[in-house]
Amino acid sequence: MSTVRYAAPGRVNLIGEHTDYNLGFALPIGLPQRTVVTFTPDDSDAITASSDRADGSVRIGLDTAPRDVTGWAAYVAGVVWALRDVGHQVPGGTMSITSDVEVGSGLSSSAALTCAVLGALKTATETATATATGSRLDRVEAARIAQRAENEYVGAPTGLLDQLSALFAEPDTALLIDFRDITVRPVPFDPDAAGVTLVLIDSRVRHSHAGGEYADRRASCERAAAAMGAATLRDVQDRGLAALSAVTDPVDLRRARHVLTENQRVLDFAAALKDSDYSTAGGIMTASHESMRDDFNITVPQVDLIAETAVRAGALGARMTGGGFGGVVIALVPLDRVESLSATVRGASADAGYDEPTIRRTHSAAGATAL
Ligand code: GLA
Repeated sequence: MSTVRYAAPGRVNLIGEHTDYNLGFALPIGLPQRTVVTFTPDDSDAITASSDRADGSVRIGLDTAPRDVTGWAAYVAGVVWALRDVGHQVPGGTMSITSDVEVGSGLSSSAALTCAVLGALKTATETATATATGSRLDRVEAARIAQRAENEYVGAPTGLLDQLSALFAEPDTALLIDFRDITVRPVPFDPDAAGVTLVLIDSRVRHSHAGGEYADRRASCERAAAAMGAATLRDVQDRGLAALSAVTDPVDLRRARHVLTENQRVLDFAAALKDSDYSTAGGIMTASHESMRDDFNITVPQVDLIAETAVRAGALGARMTGGGFGGVVIALVPLDRVESLSATVRGASADAGYDEPTIRRTHSAAGATAL
């Protein structure tokens, strides 16, 4: 049986944080950094997986069940389990994984891994059963399977943002996702053509969403929706912020206010991009950061300092990206200010006694694909 290779990218969410599981909007791009899975199927009843990030290999029985496997290989095992659970064949074999998507930095190394594993396993099955019909997955179905791997096998109650980003990404394009009906609309995103660039500033503070904070935010949003008599926060979006008066718990109210205002910011940001108005887009990013800091409470002092310093040093706007509690700040920066901004941000972090952030420019790149 022949070897297949499949790649899936990390993502940067330009705006729309913690909106996905509230059935709102987000606007991510795919990154040039990606995870590559090489898989050689065989007749065995297990997958032996190895990663360039860990010593040794892990044996994953095809009959694996949630929580059997832990650590990085749980994401591989989760895809095996989720595929089989919805009736797909999964062959045994040998799998090796390489990746340059940073772990725990808010760039979704986990979806890059699950989507690349899923693509490799499906490609191997389709190659082996070339005449089979009906076994091809569309990208939304694939995203849901990868999400189940993470939610039910690994135990991280995350939404669909990361998987859809990895699967739908395109160069020079941001993806306007509506999570209520799961539609993905391309929005042109090529700031460099307008003399502005997207800069990633990694605070090097690491997080994990299998911990309690993410689940806690999600529960808060659900309680707030229920207090307003709605199934999800999206259902009250059109009622405006006045609807929040029905939420008596002050913490739940702030969480919900972040989600409702963030949804509107996504739409406003996408409209600004259509006009290549990066100055307006930048201001919306900064407002998003403030909402994550003050209402959703998912930032940490290191990323607050980076975002605030970046704006003071000439960024059009800056915000933390991803689930929160560390990771990367993104900034829209006029090309001629990138160098001085980088020096200012490094200096401010050093003065505060924080780790030196790593800073690089980036752009939107292609989604998951067979190689
Ligand atoms: C993590 C989750 C996503 C999403 C973001 C926050 O990346 O995996 O589903 O909720 O956090 O926007």
